[in-house]
Amino acid sequence: MNITHLECAACGLRHEAQRLLNLCRECGKPLLVRYDLERAGRSLKKESLAGRRPDLWRYREVLPVADDANIVSLGEGWTPLLKTERLGERLGLQNLFIKDESQNPTQSFKARGMATAVSMAKELGANKLAVPSAGNAAGALAAYAARAGLECFIFMPRDTPRANVVECEQTGAHVTLLDGLITDCGAEVARRKDAEGWFDVSTLKEPYRVEGKKTLGYELAEQSDWSLPDVIIYPTGGGTGLIGMWKAFDEMEQLGWIGSQRPRMVSVQAAGCAPIVRALAEGKRFADEFPNATTVASGLRVPRAIGDFMILDAIRDSGGTAIAVTDEELLAAVAETGALEGVFCAPEGAACLPALRKLIADKAVTPAERVVLFNTGAGVKYLESFS
Ligand SMILES: Cc1ncc(COP(=O)(O)O)c(C=O)c1O
Ligand SMILES: [Zn+2]
Repeated sequence: MNITHLECAACGLRHEAQRLLNLCRECGKPLLVRYDLERAGRSLKKESLAGRRPDLWRYREVLPVADDANIVSLGEGWTPLLKTERLGERLGLQNLFIKDESQNPTQSFKARGMATAVSMAKELGANKLAVPSAGNAAGALAAYAARAGLECFIFMPRDTPRANVVECEQTGAHVTLLDGLITDCGAEVARRKDAEGWFDVSTLKEPYRVEGKKTLGYELAEQSDWSLPDVIIYPTGGGTGLIGMWKAFDEMEQLGWIGSQRPRMVSVQAAGCAPIVRALAEGKRFADEFPNATTVASGLRVPRAIGDFMILDAIRDSGGTAIAVTDEELLAAVAETGALEGVFCAPEGAACLPALRKLIADKAVTPAERVVLFNTGAGVKYLESFS
């Protein structure tokens, strides 16, 4: 294994790897995994990838887990990057793509993070896992915990889409529905975890979910012949995918695979819950909690994110932006993308389309630029939103 240590994303403090850790012991911010990339690069080469397994473990040297026997997999990652000609034509863009994450196990990109987090939890000896979730992370944890033979405890808002509740129940999880938001569910896990012996796998409160999510960045590069797009549009709740891609780009540069050029990172949020959009507009490094959060895009109903500063840093460093779209706009985009391209997006993923329209109207995207929209989940899990 090529991990050297864990490093606090805020204060830089070094922490030992191969221990069950949550946040930085000094400042309480997220820990990131650091690798000996020179060592990793000896066997991980662009040319060596061609015959490797068609899932995210193809990037094995830059992923955690010391013993291969601890890898818990359901075939996550290596999803298609679809060229969307008809949608592109409608928008006047020549190079528009959708990274279709609905094709993951449990039908969302949350499978990536849970594959690596559950594998590590298993390796480091946790046997009860707990998570607060807006829905899709719960479904993914339930499946991977079952696959690993571990117990899991899930806390979701009572009004989470029914598919998420049912999938957790049918894959053996203990499910608790609370009156409140994901932040209230997180507080409940934090309050009970020590007494119950749970390991908290809240996103960015343990170091390994972001490692699975970062493979989105490796895949984008590999699927585009090792060049990155000009613009990435990403529906942002906790922001783990965006933070992970940003980390992957730096790692790939250190591996000598790409140059210093970066895509412009665009965060999309729902108008009813847009803490990052607001913080960016106000020039803040940390985002205030967004009051009275509401949106049908349940994965975007995250009023406060522990990785807020990492999202905002990536947006600013990349010359990107953050855009809010209404529920009406994002729901209309589900049907539009479905009818034009055959991809039945989750409302969160569909939100990228109205955000792109705003960028085009502002002349912030030009016709030949390569733009990637992230469809992070499957519309079929949100049937109650399409009555
Ligand atoms: C379908 C979907 N898209 C996007 C998000 C937001 O993801 P992130 O927390 O990585 O910002 C979620 C989170 O629940 C989700 O379920
Ligand atoms: Zn710290």
